[in-house]
Amino acid sequence: KRTAALIPAAGSGTRLGLGPKAFVEVRGKSLLARSVAALAPYVNEVIVALPEGLELPPGLPARAVVGGDTRQESVRRLLEATDADTVLVHDAARPFLPEHVLLALLEAVPETGAATVALPVADTLVRQSAAGDWGELTPREGLWAVQTPQGFDRAALLDAHRQAARDGFAATDDAGLLARLGVRVRLVPGDARLFKVTTPGDLALAQALARTLDE
Ligand code: CTP
Ligand code: MG
Repeated sequence: KRTAALIPAAGSGTRLGLGPKAFVEVRGKSLLARSVAALAPYVNEVIVALPEGLELPPGLPARAVVGGDTRQESVRRLLEATDADTVLVHDAARPFLPEHVLLALLEAVPETGAATVALPVADTLVRQSAAGDWGELTPREGLWAVQTPQGFDRAALLDAHRQAARDGFAATDDAGLLARLGVRVRLVPGDARLFKVTTPGDLALAQALARTLDE
């Protein structure tokens, strides 16, 4: 059985404001290079979706496809670029992937053909009122914040993507597309280090973390 890592990296990084985010470096190594390096030893191939006109930096053990206008479209193109049995979809923007989390995910995927890394919510959750103040309290028990990587049976995920495109259904991740069709998605406990680098504050956090994690 073959497994491919699919890395959507075609975003423009608007909120970070430093150009295409996957190419932004943290202590001399790009977010993309860090994500590729974390996955490559565990899969048969790595495929990256890049913004049109940009090329894969030399030396990365991966090949590239042109991404789409949305993450969902980028992942669909990645899925069409492989015939692997299993795929792991992982945001380039999550550069710190602990090995134990990846191994737990790989173990969970065969259970139902769909699994995601996620983190139990630790903060108090409240919906804002119409005035923008404290509105309705939402018990956090049983709530998870969804991260990546996510693992799937490739054919099932591709089918879910095609159905979503047909229905005009948009989701910010891939597990949501399968859950929508009634597929059971396994939740695998993630890690705070898997946070997504989205804002300048996140980049500062990534730099601090890299100082302690890099050798
Ligand atoms: N992504 C992608 N194709 C797109 C949009 C996003 O492959 N058309 C990827 C990003 O490169 C990133 C992941 O999806 O690795 C998560 O997206 P996000 O954090 O939103 O990154 P950006 O879209 O680049 O950032 P922003 O929304 O601030 O512009
Ligand atoms: Mg985005």
